[in-house]
Parts: sequence; C-alpha cells; structure tokens
Amino acid sequence: MPEQIIIDTDPGQDDAVAILLALASPDCINVLGITAVAGNVPLDLTVKNARIICELAKKTSMSIYSGCSKPLKRALVTAEHVHGKTGLDGITLPEPSMPIQELHAVDFIIDTIKNNPSDSITLCALGPLTNVAMALLKEPNIAKRVKQIILMGGAYFEVGNITPAAEFNIFVDPEAAKIVFNSGVKITVLPLDVTHKALISEERITAFKEINSPVGDAVAKWTNFFERFDKEKYGSKGAPLHDPCVIAYLIEPNIFDGRYVNVEIETGSELTRGMTVADWWKVTDREPNAMFIGGLDADRFFNLLVERLSKL
Ligand code: BDR
Ligand code: CA
Repeated sequence: MPEQIIIDTDPGQDDAVAILLALASPDCINVLGITAVAGNVPLDLTVKNARIICELAKKTSMSIYSGCSKPLKRALVTAEHVHGKTGLDGITLPEPSMPIQELHAVDFIIDTIKNNPSDSITLCALGPLTNVAMALLKEPNIAKRVKQIILMGGAYFEVGNITPAAEFNIFVDPEAAKIVFNSGVKITVLPLDVTHKALISEERITAFKEINSPVGDAVAKWTNFFERFDKEKYGSKGAPLHDPCVIAYLIEPNIFDGRYVNVEIETGSELTRGMTVADWWKVTDREPNAMFIGGLDADRFFNLLVERLSKL
C-alpha cells in the first residue's frame, strides 16, 4: 500500500525536485495534496510555483492549498538570493491555470488526518513549519493520529546556512519548529548534515538533461541555477539538493542512516535563533524525540532521482 502523504512546501527549485520525485513514484507514494507555505518566496509565489510544478508533471488534478503567509510570531524572511525572484528561476515555464483549492492548507491538513484511519497519514515538510504547527495548535488531537512527520530542516555538525547557527527552514519560524519537535509525533529530520552530502555536479546535471523530457530539462536548468550560489558560498563542487532527501527517505530509507536523539529548538537568543540543538553524542538525559539523519549514499540517491524522474 503506498504511503499516504501531504507535502507541505515553499517551492523553491529543490522543493520542485522533491515534489516531482513524489509524483513520479505512485507505486510507493500517494500524494493526497500539496500545501504551500511562505518561505523561500512569499506565499502567492509558493502557491503559484506548486501549480507550475504539477502542470509540468501533467498532474493537473492534484489539489493545491494555500497556507500561512507569515511565521507564527515573526516577520517573514525569504531567500531570493538563493532561489531567484520567482523562487523557480532557471527556466521560464507557462503561467499555471490549474485551480487553487478554497480550503485553507491548515484545515486540509487537519481534515485529512481526522478523516483517515489513525496512523495512516505522513506529513512531508519541505519549508518553514508554520502550516504544520498551526494545524497542531488548532487541533491538538491530530498529534496522536498522524503517522509521522518527515522534514527537511536544521543541522548539527553543519551548523547553519542562513546564519552561522541556523538552517533556513527552522530559522524562519523557530516557534513553529519548537511546537513540532515537542508534539510527541514520530519525527524524522533530514538536516544539512545529510543534504550537504547530496551534492549536484556537472555529471549529475548532465544525467538530468539526458532524461530528454520537459521534466529532465527543467530539473537540469533548476539545479544548474541553484548551484551558483552555494558553489560560491561553500567553494564546493556543487550545491546540496536538500528537499528531495525527504521523499527519497520514504522511497529508499536504507540509503540513509542516522540516530534517534533529542532535538531542541532555540527561540530565545537572537544570535542563535532557530538553532537545532541535537544531542548527537547523548550527553544529556533529555528524551530522544527525533530520528536525526546524517549519512547518505549519494550515488544511489542521484540514481534514484534520474530513474524516477524519467517516468514523468
Ligand atoms: C532549505 O531552505 C530552502 O532554501 C530549501 O528549499 C530547503 O528547504 C535548505 O536550508
Ligand atoms: Ca524548501
């Protein structure tokens, strides 16, 4: 039985690749809906981008929901310096025409969890955790019904990418992250520690190009665009392809490894706002609350991407 998932996202080129990977994998993943949140770019653009991506994949019957336009307690911070003005810079795709659902993303998350058997719905979070936290605040009972949350966010050994201490998704809405990590839901985290091993390279971009389809072409152009910023910043050969790690983890968990540890979120300090304090070495007696992933077989990850994306 395929995993029943909701993708909560702020597309973003790497979010786009993650969504395409999920849509390309109906044998093991059933996407019940896509909920957009403000993050990489403002909400109107993340909603639009989710529609562009589904239309590229010819999945125009997918339900797309618009969610929270700003973090729970803070002003929105965006990342156009990484993703470009549209969030999907790198290729110009047609204006989308598929509809946006009327229901708010937060209510869609709540209703889906309430109306399906307990322990059957997985939330895949690829952006700031505002929508997910709002759903938990509005209907706390869903915490014991949701199967799991798999999220891209945080870092321990890799520390931060938006500040010296914090990863972007957690930095943008640390209060939301705190609610999620304290919710008691089963959580798997794909932090920078693992996504910094999922590095794009010229050969890997060529492999996307050689899929020889509109999807392959878009993914090659997006990853090429997305690269320039991180290459400059880290001096590495290629940029990390963060968000697809979440979906790849669902499809092939055995190419990843990690530890079940305690993770706390810093919300008090301005200096370390959004830091994910992971007790990797188990030096406290704080209860473990998350599977924190650190290792990845990058070749198998990119082979999986090419193999799956070829099907769209
Ligand atoms: C995360 O931030 C965003 O820029 C990416 O889409 C990813 O979700 C990486 O820190
Ligand atoms: Ca994202």
